[in-house]
Amino acid sequence: MHTLLLIDDDPDVLATLTRSFRKGYKTLSAGGGEAGIALLNEHPVDLVICDQRMPNITGDRVLSHALQVQPEAIRILLTGYSDVESLMTCVNEAHIYKYVTKPWDPSELNLTVVRALESLDLKRALDTTSSQLETAYQDAVVMLCLAAEGKDQDTSSHLYRVQHYTEALAIAMGVDNKAAAHMGLMSMLHDIGKLATPDAILKKPDKLTAEEWEIMREHPLNGVRILGNNPFYETAREISAGHHENYDGSGYPHGLSGDDIPLSARIVKLADVFDALTTQRPYKKSWPVETALTHIESHAGIMFDPAMVIALRNLFIDGTLTRIKSAF
Ligand SMILES: [Fe+2]
Ligand SMILES: [Fe+2]
Repeated sequence: MHTLLLIDDDPDVLATLTRSFRKGYKTLSAGGGEAGIALLNEHPVDLVICDQRMPNITGDRVLSHALQVQPEAIRILLTGYSDVESLMTCVNEAHIYKYVTKPWDPSELNLTVVRALESLDLKRALDTTSSQLETAYQDAVVMLCLAAEGKDQDTSSHLYRVQHYTEALAIAMGVDNKAAAHMGLMSMLHDIGKLATPDAILKKPDKLTAEEWEIMREHPLNGVRILGNNPFYETAREISAGHHENYDGSGYPHGLSGDDIPLSARIVKLADVFDALTTQRPYKKSWPVETALTHIESHAGIMFDPAMVIALRNLFIDGTLTRIKSAF
């Protein structure tokens, strides 16, 4: 059942309002602005109907407060024709759903409330669905990566570390938090193209022949193919395609250089290499972070974007890298 908050300093008006919404709703009533604000601070409500002209605190102030503390609640102002100025404040600052002029037609007010609550319910249903969808896609990415795990020396902890190094580097490079988190998640798919690489090559203990290298180097574009054409995976495709490009143009598959390599791919390349250096692999020991950073710095402008190499060093200085490394 929806909860309505009714606010009016005129006891008769308040009683009329309460009577007309008693059926089908839970009603809370306040005989003034202060009492209305107190109720807003304590009780979640779905809709507020508030009188404009009240002593001490006017309706527009009460509804502005409602917008602050319960932004989702629908706000309706009861007003006389003469209150044009306060009405404008209210529309602009309290984002009201509707104003109703006094005296009002009860059935019209009723219909307004019904419609407003219908739209509120729809919005809530939509919010729930989109947050479920968001969790579902995030889970799907992780599931796909875990399914691919074991094809290669990459482990799930490598993927989680790369995810967080990527996110931190992206923020350091000026990407906003939400886009950086998305980039981090999509970075987990950087080697998904290896699903198409034969195990005999991926797991070969000896050096690869020139021909085998050719096949190995197909994984970035195989990844793009696996990731399809859904716009949602655009960043993942950029990362897959570009994470073996070098800043000086000497990488593969396209030999792109500098800013022609998408930012996301430049970031993931650095995150991926940094993690490979600082962890143990079947063919190598883990390097101390300082040694890895010095090695990376000697490849700034060659393999890596120089600005990003500086950002990586700063993330070491402020403790971010160590925190991520010990968390996974
Ligand atoms: Fe790769
Ligand atoms: Fe990797």
